[in-house]
Order: sequence, then C-alpha cells, then structure tokens
Amino acid sequence: MSETGDERPAADLEELWAGEFGRAYIARNRLIDERRAAFWTGLLADYPITSVLEVGCGQGANLRPISQVIEAPDTWGIDINPDALAIARSHAPGINVVASRARQLPFRDGLVDLAFTVGVLIHQPEASLSVVLAEIVRCSKRYVLWAEYHAPRTEEVPYRGQSGALFKRDYGRIYHDLFPDLAVRREGFLGPEDGFDRVTWQLLEKP
Ligand SMILES: C[S@@+](CC[C@H](N)C(=O)[O-])C[C@H]1O[C@@H](n2cnc3c(N)ncnc32)[C@H](O)[C@@H]1O
Repeated sequence: MSETGDERPAADLEELWAGEFGRAYIARNRLIDERRAAFWTGLLADYPITSVLEVGCGQGANLRPISQVIEAPDTWGIDINPDALAIARSHAPGINVVASRARQLPFRDGLVDLAFTVGVLIHQPEASLSVVLAEIVRCSKRYVLWAEYHAPRTEEVPYRGQSGALFKRDYGRIYHDLFPDLAVRREGFLGPEDGFDRVTWQLLEKP
C-alpha cells in the first residue's frame, strides 16, 4: 500500500509533463550521456531482441544507442511531451516516436520484443501504475525491462517543488505481484558512471 497520502490524479501529472515543467526537464537534460550505450549494447548482444518500445522515452537517451544496434524502424518510443519527441528524432533519425500517455499505448499487442521504462514508473501515481504496467506487458512479445528508483516500501520523494510527482517503490515486487508469470532474467544497478541516475533494473521474460 502507498504511504503517500492524498493521490494526485494521473491526468494532472500528464498535464505537468506535457507542459512547461516537462520542457524545463528536457532543457536540463538536452545533452545525452553517451555512456548509456555500453549497457544497451551489452544487453542487446545477449538476448534475441530485434524491436523495442520505450515508454516515456524523453529526448532519446536510451533510444539513440539502441537505434545504433537495432534497425531504426524497429525502434519505438512514446512520450507525453512533444518537444521531447522532436529532440529524440534528432538524436536517433528514423526511429518511430509518438505522442501518447503511458496508460493508453497506441499499439497492438506484442508489437515489440522488448518494452521498457527508465525513470518513468516513478512518475506514475498509485491509481494508474498497474494500468501502465499492463500496457507495457501487453505491447511486449517477450521481454519487459524496468530501471527505476528503488525503495523497499513505497515512498514519495519531493520533486522540484511538486508533490505527488515522484515515488520510489519496489518495482520488482510490484511487477511480480501483478504478473507472476514474468521471470527475472537479469537484474542490476546503474549509476552515474554508466550514464544513469542510480536506478535499479530488471529484465523480465514472458512465459
Ligand atoms: C525522467 S524522464 C526519463 C526520460 C528517459 N526515459 C530517460 O531515461 O532519459 C521521464 C519522461 O517520462 C515522460 N512521462 C512522464 N509521465 C508520462 C506519462 N504518464 N505518459 C507518457 N510519458 C510520460 C516525461 O515527459 C519524460 O520525458
């Protein structure tokens, strides 16, 4: 159960990220950390993944290195902020990026081999988190990956003057409770030396 008090509605947070708050985030993070390439290149070398979807792809910090391994037309992203998508396109020419909210993905079941998030589930409120996870699992043919801030119990973290906008959680347990058939294939931690912001991650596989 959440210990975060009153719930901020999903639509409110979507509006926040789609507007000035989201644009300010993009401006702060416009430059892509090329060190992320090592993680993605290694992972994609070890698993039979030839198409991906990133939910909340931002300015393409993951999709750029991925599109250097996977064919750009098989590299998909969605984000609620249109400015982020424009920058993602410039960082990774030829990829497919679409304006969408995470809780209603405009894709068919099993679109890609791997559907994933990096630093996006942390921005989903309790009420819509399970819907977002279900959408990610639905669009994956085989693998799901999450890389998010971990805490053993859900805790809200104040975020740039906003309340109800960032939650550390045990995302591995939450995925497991909702989708017990997903098997953990690999897991780890990625820090600044890897180009990430101290995230715990798991690669899950559908039965
Ligand atoms: C912290 S950034 C992470 C960006 C990218 N995944 C990365 O690793 O660099 C969060 C991104 O998720 C997007 N986002 C947040 N909530 C969303 C939602 N409900 N639906 C779609 N995108 C969302 C934001 O616009 C932002 O680009």
